[in-house]
Amino acid sequence: MIPKPPRWMLFTGVLAGLALAIPPVVIARVRSTPDPNRGVHIFFDMDFQPKFKTQAENPLFADGRAQRYEVLGTVARGETKVDAHRYEGVVDGKWAETLPAGMELTAEFLKRGEQRYNIYCSVCHGYAGFGDGAVNKRAMELMSNTEGPVQGTAWVQAKSLHDPVVREHTVGLLYNIVTNGVRNMAGYGAQIDLEDRWAIAAYVQALQFSQNATIQDVPPEKRDLLPKNVAQAGGDATTEVK
Ligand code: HEC
Repeated sequence: MIPKPPRWMLFTGVLAGLALAIPPVVIARVRSTPDPNRGVHIFFDMDFQPKFKTQAENPLFADGRAQRYEVLGTVARGETKVDAHRYEGVVDGKWAETLPAGMELTAEFLKRGEQRYNIYCSVCHGYAGFGDGAVNKRAMELMSNTEGPVQGTAWVQAKSLHDPVVREHTVGLLYNIVTNGVRNMAGYGAQIDLEDRWAIAAYVQALQFSQNATIQDVPPEKRDLLPKNVAQAGGDATTEVK
């Protein structure tokens, strides 16, 4: 038989158990009660460093404000947008006709533009730029649904990039359209890097040229390489190449 413990031992045991339950209860209470002045602050870190908070007064300055204006003429590093050619596609108040400094029209640059165009633009404008992308086709189908437009769908057709007006756009204007959008088309400044936007603009011009070139644009020594019917048609690019 187990000997019965003395009464005082039982007593102390129960008391100790109760005492042990106090800290978790206190912690749970403190954790669940919102209080701007935290009572227990074990790690001070930088919570109590001397500092001026927003809108506080600072007698050091004549106007008494702790918040200071930026020093006149300050230029933040990497934040300058003063280069209108690069950021807006504008030179001397006109749409730029050239790429901004630091970018070169190379085959590699156009390839990059093609790849980005195919990702971002072809869905609406189509791979060749005729405004016949998959999204556009689907929207048109929904609109011409015999039961009427689906839930009041309205869709502005993505413009053909071979439209005579669009063909007149300079590379700077195309860049600006890609960046900020135009009328019903949203801008892509947030999704596509600046240099890629220029590459896309350059590629759009290449696409346009691809549909509007003549035999004169082909160097004489390369004309033999063209399919026969193109060469015979005088290089009319609309001739179907079989
Ligand atoms: C979601 C569909 C959609 C996508 C994606 C799209 N566009 Fe458009 N785009 C349009 C529509 C719609 C218009 C015609 C807007 C209007 O007339 O209101 C248009 C018009 C244009 C125009 C003609 C502007 C003018 O002066 O009339 C150009 C150039 C153009 N887009 C280029 C691009 C390029 C480059 C991309 C890829 C970065 C792109 N678009 C992506 C729908 C799209």
